[in-house]
Amino acid sequence: MMNEEIKVQLTTQPAEKPDSRNLSFGKYFTDHMFIMDYHKDKGWYDPRIVPYAPIVLDPAAMVFHYGQAVFEGMKAYLTETGKVLLFRPDQNMKRLNRSNDRLGIPEIDGDFVIEAIKKLIEIDKSWIPTEKGNSLYVRPFIIATEACLGVRSSYTYQLLVILSPVGPYYSSGLEPVKINVESSYTRAVRGGIGFAKAAGNYAASIKAQENAKLEGYSQVLWLDAIEKKYIEEVGSMNIFFKIGGTVITPAINGSILEGVTRSSVISLLQDWGVPVEERKLSIEEIYDAYKDGRLEEVFGTGTAAVISPVGELHWNEHTMDVNNGKIGELSQKLYDTITGLQSGSLPDTRNWTV
Ligand code: COI
Repeated sequence: MMNEEIKVQLTTQPAEKPDSRNLSFGKYFTDHMFIMDYHKDKGWYDPRIVPYAPIVLDPAAMVFHYGQAVFEGMKAYLTETGKVLLFRPDQNMKRLNRSNDRLGIPEIDGDFVIEAIKKLIEIDKSWIPTEKGNSLYVRPFIIATEACLGVRSSYTYQLLVILSPVGPYYSSGLEPVKINVESSYTRAVRGGIGFAKAAGNYAASIKAQENAKLEGYSQVLWLDAIEKKYIEEVGSMNIFFKIGGTVITPAINGSILEGVTRSSVISLLQDWGVPVEERKLSIEEIYDAYKDGRLEEVFGTGTAAVISPVGELHWNEHTMDVNNGKIGELSQKLYDTITGLQSGSLPDTRNWTV
């Protein structure tokens, strides 16, 4: 357990807060940030909260060349009684260490980083937007900072946490989106880094996403890299299908990110007695279910959007309408329940909030 005291330097120039009625995602940042350094001979050291500002890195810093960078995402809500809630932050810290391990980045003390995040949010508490659906997005990330062009793991790193007041992902509430099944590009392959929240996975996804946008779709549905047949993820989210009353999501297989919202959805469905399966699921199976009228709902899950219903799926020459392009009952119930728990408006019997 790291027990070095977190030093605090407060800003003398607080920024003007954005209009919280039209926040978009990740455009504004609060007055402070958390930083902690690592050196292979010292471990993690010098944890500090400082005014939000650009950081100085050597142009040879390894993160720029070989991409040793991992991140996390979580949200903080201000409750009606003035308490600040985080949703399952221990899960994010565990995943951060799984990502670290895969990318050769040193382990962090998750409990210590959660304490640092709490302290940072307390300082910037007045930045938490209170409009319904708004929250403070918390972005911890780690980068390799050593100036060296050798291909090996860096001897030095920085862990930073920045905070961004955000609105609901879709300004008009839940909005079913059009998705194209990606046939050329793949996001990740088993044995690679797909299960890690590594910056490189997102870099690998951008071109397909931009092509999909040009063709009028919001996002792509990723298939597995080997057989180009099995469903993996949607955009940067996990995906669920409700077929004939059963909810199915691809099983964690090494190339799929283990989402915190994904695992919360699975637990809620189990509690509600809705049959839920984690297994391999092919695009043909989805199309067959659609043809038989059994494809009832499709939705993505992620921290940013929480639940993102899919209204239309396009696969080669086939267009599948899902629930007539409307928000499914289960999608809405999951969204209301998860955001209710996160914001403290529903009682948290599972001890998910901190
Ligand atoms: C999420 O859905 O929360 C994500 O991970 C996407 C994020 C990179 C904006």
